Amino acid sequence: MWPKDVGIRALEVYFPAQYVEQTELEVYDGVSAGKYTVGLGQSRMGFCNDREDINSLCLTVTHRLLERHGIEPRDIGRLEVGTETILDKSKSVKSILMQLFEPHGCTDIEGADTTNACYGGTAALFNSIAWVESSAWDGRLALVVAADNAVYEAGSARPTGGAGAIAILVGPDAPLVFDRGLRASCMRHAYDFYKPNLRSEYPVVDGKLSIQCYLSALDSCYQLYCDKARAKGLSGGSPVTLANFDAFLFHSPYCKLVQKSFARLAFVDFLNTPKDQVCDHYKDAMNFHTAKLEDTYFDRDVEKVFMQLSKADFEQKTRPSLLISSQVGNMYTPSVYSGLVSLLISKPISELAGSKIGIFSYGSGFCSSMYSLTVTRDTRDGSGLSKIIGALSYVKPQLEGRHCLSPADYTRVLTSREQNCHVVPFTPESSIDDMFSGTYYLTQVDEKYRRTYKRV
Ligand code: ACO
Repeated sequence: MWPKDVGIRALEVYFPAQYVEQTELEVYDGVSAGKYTVGLGQSRMGFCNDREDINSLCLTVTHRLLERHGIEPRDIGRLEVGTETILDKSKSVKSILMQLFEPHGCTDIEGADTTNACYGGTAALFNSIAWVESSAWDGRLALVVAADNAVYEAGSARPTGGAGAIAILVGPDAPLVFDRGLRASCMRHAYDFYKPNLRSEYPVVDGKLSIQCYLSALDSCYQLYCDKARAKGLSGGSPVTLANFDAFLFHSPYCKLVQKSFARLAFVDFLNTPKDQVCDHYKDAMNFHTAKLEDTYFDRDVEKVFMQLSKADFEQKTRPSLLISSQVGNMYTPSVYSGLVSLLISKPISELAGSKIGIFSYGSGFCSSMYSLTVTRDTRDGSGLSKIIGALSYVKPQLEGRHCLSPADYTRVLTSREQNCHVVPFTPESSIDDMFSGTYYLTQVDEKYRRTYKRV
């Protein structure tokens, strides 16, 4: 017998305490005003100084989740990490996190790390769901941790960086329930974004190809998801469309691509609707009805028309999920899950209750999946849903409580990271005074590359 209502029981998000303003970065980079803020849709970009690395990000978010939700180390039976920020080719970040469990005598915890660009968190999540639904499950909870430090070399990709971490507690009887047996994936081989240089934190990226891969993966996953959902009777036998979702979350490299992606789903719905059944709202787009999806990744006319026609739906179903993404940037693996946090803190609980949330996860290279969550209808005080939302009340004040650094300081931080990448022994120099309480920071990397941390 499978456990009932397997889903998300708690969420914790972490982002660094400093950011750079995208308007200031536009001036500093000498690009036209509006390119990063309007063109990419980004307001601020969070970043790590030399006090934080992938281990500290994961320690911070994991410890904070356990503390905030009163979860004991012995309650966790599976712990795994999704990340593309690789410090060690052998030792997993999960093993670093065992420092939080081992002192409590808890070492019987399955799971290790998963890597594929921004998709690793989703792969780790799917593994954890599978564990809870498997014969190996022993009644304990699974904890999924996704984190990354997203930095690009100077140039057009740099404003699409970010940094952060998310922890997702998975178990039965959850208020956010994974729709069982309803997933669609698209996995292919592409060199759109990859990190072959192990001495650098920066990826090799083909920006245009990465957008094309993202959109083609979206098209595939959405059509397959809708077919599967229809076959399962999600819409009483009628075609499944955007109308079946109350919210739609996307991996967010930058917010403008998410708005274009939402418009793309409206376009797919339109192409899938027989001409004589297209509703009046889309009548003006009829001359695109014979278009082929694969010819339109960069078709300005299609993009413009469908962004306009889907704008009201986008504002309702997706814009609320972009709060953290617009303020912190692309956190890579946590990105789409920061969308879930943003949604939960942006809508009244009465509106969230019973809603269907579509989720699209993309990681370059590439791996992608679409799946959905159904939110419980139980909104009583003390219910799982009200607890998850209540526990996220720190997010908005912390976003506002960050410190603004100048683009020159941001650039200095990145230059220093470049110079110190894999250099040992290393002692970080940045102040810890402005870090949020509960944040782990790096104190030392010794001559044998062993890292030690303390907590603010
Ligand atoms: N005011 C308003 N909009 C402007 C302005 C301005 N002054 N100047 C430019 N723009 C618009 C452009 O028209 C363009 O809009 P469009 O996308 O609708 O055409 C947008 O701003 C960006 O300008 P581009 O010239 O296209 O930007 P560029 O090519 O320099 O870089 C890119 C953009 C490719 C996304 C780059 O930042 C990048 O490589 N990022 C990393 C890769 C990435 O994030 N890929 C996405 C999926 S993979 C992943 O998640 C990592």
